[in-house]
Amino acid sequence: MKIGICSDHAGLDYKTRLIAYLLGKGHQVVNFGTDSSESCDYPDFAHRLGNAVASGDVDAGIALCGTGNGMAITLNHHHGIRAGLAWNTEIARLVKEHNNANVLVMPARFVSYRMAVMMVRTWIETEFAGGRHQRRIDKIEL
Ligand code: RB5
Repeated sequence: MKIGICSDHAGLDYKTRLIAYLLGKGHQVVNFGTDSSESCDYPDFAHRLGNAVASGDVDAGIALCGTGNGMAITLNHHHGIRAGLAWNTEIARLVKEHNNANVLVMPARFVSYRMAVMMVRTWIETEFAGGRHQRRIDKIEL
């Protein structure tokens, strides 16, 4: 898979480690920043990732900030983006199985790195269930 990834300063450490993890698993990774620990504004990076996923430049995305909410709120302004916030593996599974989330968002300040890796693995491996869930997704876009 070609996966885009972004974070703000709060998610930088996990993003850096997840890039190495994903490359080690054979994925292509496109890093949309930030690459600095200086305080920054999450929309600057979320929009770059959102554009890339929406245009098909990457297959899917991963975003991290402190709570995950800033990234999720910003990404979900992009047509075609379904950014799902997850904080355990069950939610990471359901956000793909039921919501077909094309961006996985995680709250770096509230989950361990080990949990973040397990969520990424679960979300990548899970298939969208379709059926009634597709009908519901079809009703989302305004
Ligand atoms: C940064 O302090 C924090 O506000 C940000 O990472 C995120 O949690 C926003 O939603």
